[in-house]
Amino acid sequence: MLKARIAVLVSGGGTNLQALMDAEKSGIIKSGEIRLVVSNNSNAYALKRAEIAGIPSACITKKEYGKQEGFEKALLELLAENGIELIVLAGFMSILSADFVNHYKNRIINIHPSLIPSFCGKGFYGLKVHEAALEYGVKVTGATVHFVNEVPDGGRIIMQKAVDILPHDTPEALQKRVMEQAEWVILPRAAEQISAEIINAREKN
Ligand code: GAR
Repeated sequence: MLKARIAVLVSGGGTNLQALMDAEKSGIIKSGEIRLVVSNNSNAYALKRAEIAGIPSACITKKEYGKQEGFEKALLELLAENGIELIVLAGFMSILSADFVNHYKNRIINIHPSLIPSFCGKGFYGLKVHEAALEYGVKVTGATVHFVNEVPDGGRIIMQKAVDILPHDTPEALQKRVMEQAEWVILPRAAEQISAEIINAREKN
């Protein structure tokens, strides 16, 4: 059985990419294989992680390709060349256009570090999400894996996991706990679920 071909899009440290690669190794992801890592930031440590794991990687920047349109065109070409069937956004800090997401309907998933619909949408990314949760005073937060559509963080929810907020949490401490207890758990599980669906859909055709 041919596995679903996965590309992981990254921008930074790549701990979620690491969780995905580890999950493939341990068999949590068995229906898909990570064939490509793409970063929009040449300094992303995630690129180093891909290199260490022996996974082909590329860097495509808006600066190099001229704004969103050129960037997305280059990205689409690269994904097509590699026969990519599932795109996983793992800390990818760039919003994709409606035109781009329409090329991969229900085939792009994203991890967001809150329980959507709280603390999400434009401007809510990385540490800012945890700062906002602490400022609001919620007692429970978490992470969400969802499909990507034309609305930032607005696509159908696939999986969520809650994480308690502790009395003296800092944004950094909370970010770390949400990653360890929620993100690194549900992103690989969701990637496996959608990969299995892709394989099933192939069989029906
Ligand atoms: C993760 O916490 C991810 O959920 C978040 O950025 C971090 C990336 O860390 N993504 C967003 O905020 C997207 N809106 P990583 O590079 O170590 O995986």
